[in-house]
Amino acid sequence: MPKEFIADIKTIRERARKHIENGAVTEGYKADRTTVIKLLQEALATEIVCVLRYKRHYFMAQGIHAQPVAAEFLQHANEEQGHADQISARIVQLGGAPNLNPEGLLSRSHSEYVEGGSLVDMLKEDLVAERIAIDSYGEMVRYMGNDDPTTRRMLEGILAMEEEHADDLATLLATLDPTEKG
Ligand SMILES: [Fe+2]
Ligand SMILES: [Fe+2]
Repeated sequence: MPKEFIADIKTIRERARKHIENGAVTEGYKADRTTVIKLLQEALATEIVCVLRYKRHYFMAQGIHAQPVAAEFLQHANEEQGHADQISARIVQLGGAPNLNPEGLLSRSHSEYVEGGSLVDMLKEDLVAERIAIDSYGEMVRYMGNDDPTTRRMLEGILAMEEEHADDLATLLATLDPTEKG
């Protein structure tokens, strides 16, 4: 049996005129906005901590193998900043305000800020952080389901990039530290 599409356009039109101050958030929004915003605030803190950690690693990368690794750290730092900006914009669209307060940043973040000594230590810490991000974005995507497809799609895009980051780091790590090869 073909699936029928039934929309009550009259009701949709009437509802659209109410609460226009809510902008993109309509009565048809199916997710729990408070929870979605809270999850996005945690993701935002995670991204900012990742920016800071990658920047630290970029500036501290030293030694004969440092150049390509440092270049990767810088690229990741910039991409994590891009994620932070996407998430902030979505929080505003949902009627919230991005929490960029440095106070409590680390406790809101899922990933940790570990400086690391050697290049290998830095790569390992960054790989751990990416793996944390991959799992928490995966959970968030599943939580959004069909209730907030726009947030879900944004998170899926970010998740795909965190997977690329983890893969890049694992490759570099295997080159620098052959004992890490599976
Ligand atoms: Fe990210
Ligand atoms: Fe990442």
